Amino acid sequence: EKGGYASFMLKEIAEQPKAVTDTLLGRIDPEGTLHLDEVRITRGELREVDKVVIVACGTAYHAGMIAKYAIEHWTRIPCETELASEFRYRDPILDPHTLVVAISQSGETMDTLMALRHAREQGAKVLAICNTNGSTIPRESDAVLYTHAGPEVAVASTKAFLTQLVACYLVALYLGQVRGTKWGDEIRTVIRQLSEISGSVERVLETMEPVRELARSLASHDTVLFLGRHVGFPVALEGALKLKELAYMHAEGFAAGELKHGPIALIEDGVPVVVVVPSPAGRSVLHGKIVSNIQEIRARGARTVVIAEEGDEEVVPYADHLIRIPATPTLLQPLVATVPLQVFACELATARGNEVDQPRNLAKSVTVE
Ligand code: F6R
Repeated sequence: EKGGYASFMLKEIAEQPKAVTDTLLGRIDPEGTLHLDEVRITRGELREVDKVVIVACGTAYHAGMIAKYAIEHWTRIPCETELASEFRYRDPILDPHTLVVAISQSGETMDTLMALRHAREQGAKVLAICNTNGSTIPRESDAVLYTHAGPEVAVASTKAFLTQLVACYLVALYLGQVRGTKWGDEIRTVIRQLSEISGSVERVLETMEPVRELARSLASHDTVLFLGRHVGFPVALEGALKLKELAYMHAEGFAAGELKHGPIALIEDGVPVVVVVPSPAGRSVLHGKIVSNIQEIRARGARTVVIAEEGDEEVVPYADHLIRIPATPTLLQPLVATVPLQVFACELATARGNEVDQPRNLAKSVTVE
């Protein structure tokens, strides 16, 4: 049933281009317009939304963090993303114009379920993004957008994460489309780019051998740090989470701009630091800043593992290891940048003799608070 792969995780990583395609299927028409009529919230109701609140846990929370950038950029509706486990305990401000988006692969995560129940009690509308048909979270929500990743067996989430991202982009773009923002042209362009993105994911998968080699060479390290900015920050957090849960290593993700506010003190000789570099196009300010960060940490002894787009030559002198990803529109970059981090964690865990499908102390769905 692992289809010739050594683990379900490897199989599920390899299935990502198809999972992405399946999640887009039937939702974009040939003119590049989104059709999400299955989401049973009327256009009128969507036009009245004045705040979006995303609740989720773990990897799904990272997808939600990325969604915040997309939603605010394309719709100009204020959006916050919160850990589902924290949400209801601070008496959040919700009303019928708040759209709460609950993201969950399993649809059974108790923290997320309790957050959505609280939101509905306060009169907010809840849209679930979920991978499991008929599970509790979509059943208790006002509306659902299913991800079509297929069953995810490995405890560590991979293909579900990519499809959660796709679903989040669809929600953001749909809100933009329904409400008609000044980004109308950009929205149409991005819908087209999104419909072609699975090819880029495929290309990343074809070039992973150097990542595997690098992972094996780091098997005896104690710590790996991850840096990113903008949507690359949640990607860094996701890379660190994968490494913790699979390789049982100390791993932390930071927003690169925070380095100087503390974490740079962690940099010492030989410490591997994975840096997710934003697209040089369009976001040149951030790009320049992260290139300086790479220089700074390297000058202090870090072994830099740089994930950068093809054609980005500026990073080359400062990369001890360079991992190339296809050039991708800024907000969509997480769909390609996360994949090497999944492969990296999986290979490192295997090199350390760990069971990647069933990491210690973890369960696939967490049905207690
Ligand atoms: C990490 C992982 C967990 C889940 C989290 C939420 O690889 O799998 O962090 O993402 O427990 O689970 P769902 O999405 O089922 O609500």
